[in-house]
Amino acid sequence: MITQTLFGTMPNGQDVTQYTLTNTKGVSIDILTLGGVIRRWLIPTSKDATTDIVLGYDTLEDYVNDDSSFGALVGRYANRIAKGKFTLEGVDYQTDINLGDHCLHGGSQGFSKKVWSSSVLSNSENPSIILELNSEDGDQGFPGDIYVKVIYTLTEQNRLKIEYFANASQSTVFNPTNHSYFNLNGHNSGPVDQHKVQILASQYTPIDNEGVPTGEIAAVDNTPFDLRPLTSINQPLSAQNEQIQFGNGLDHNLCLDYYSSESKVATYAAQAQTEDGCVTLKVYTNMPGIQIFTANHLSNKKGKESTRYQARHGVCFETQFFADSPNKPDFPSTTLKVGEEFYSITEYEVLF
Ligand code: BGC
Repeated sequence: MITQTLFGTMPNGQDVTQYTLTNTKGVSIDILTLGGVIRRWLIPTSKDATTDIVLGYDTLEDYVNDDSSFGALVGRYANRIAKGKFTLEGVDYQTDINLGDHCLHGGSQGFSKKVWSSSVLSNSENPSIILELNSEDGDQGFPGDIYVKVIYTLTEQNRLKIEYFANASQSTVFNPTNHSYFNLNGHNSGPVDQHKVQILASQYTPIDNEGVPTGEIAAVDNTPFDLRPLTSINQPLSAQNEQIQFGNGLDHNLCLDYYSSESKVATYAAQAQTEDGCVTLKVYTNMPGIQIFTANHLSNKKGKESTRYQARHGVCFETQFFADSPNKPDFPSTTLKVGEEFYSITEYEVLF
């Protein structure tokens, strides 16, 4: 089932709708047309109680001012492009700079700050909505007009399926993701350091002290990034390791073992689990990487129900191409050419 309400009105007068997708298992997810934000994700945890497993805000104003991409669709380019510079087909481009010297998540007015057009695709079993965006040539400094469509579907198997489609009027770079911060004990229940995580990745992309990949693709063996066995988050976070210091915690891209550039199917890639094992999040994707991010920068941020979010109160699994790929020839290519139809899929399944 889908219901919709007016969430608020943007400073420029555009209305922002909140869709609520509910399945018959008692899962209910609120999605905003501003940035395609997943604002609330309720799971039934006892006969008459629900738990909201994502961090977020109560008001539209908070989302307009947000600098953490809470729950948002980010793009055109998730994560960093070093100095906001890249060269494509012999032409140099300079994007918006919004994190030190670098471009983060597509610039200060990236996809998360846009109001997307919306419609209901299916209002029956497996409720589904479509969000659409036209980003013009030069938007945040990126080349080419680009049309983006995202379909969110909540299935009866308690999966939120996120499908990304795009095409461009000239060659450009494209790397969309969703930036939900999960806390499987509830958004207002403090640190996630006792959650256990698994990521099926035997390699990762080391970063410099500004979070930009060095270009190396390194083995995770004997590093805090070997998350192939189910591991308490606390373990990598407490490791004496330069990479963990550079990220101020976990803020790293892991290279997924089962990636295949041809696949259009979401394959199991990662999970998180509460310490008691009562709630599990499983991540399936066809993307090559996952940025695991332990919300290292949060400091007394006012969130939903007046909660104060601190560092490590959430964990993100941002399915993506690797950061700074346009400047790293050895990474999978993020170039989207004219005539190509971009498609990617990520599914988040919650077991409770
Ligand atoms: C980045 C972090 C950043 C966060 C919030 C993550 O994807 O890697 O460095 O602080 O997003 O925008």
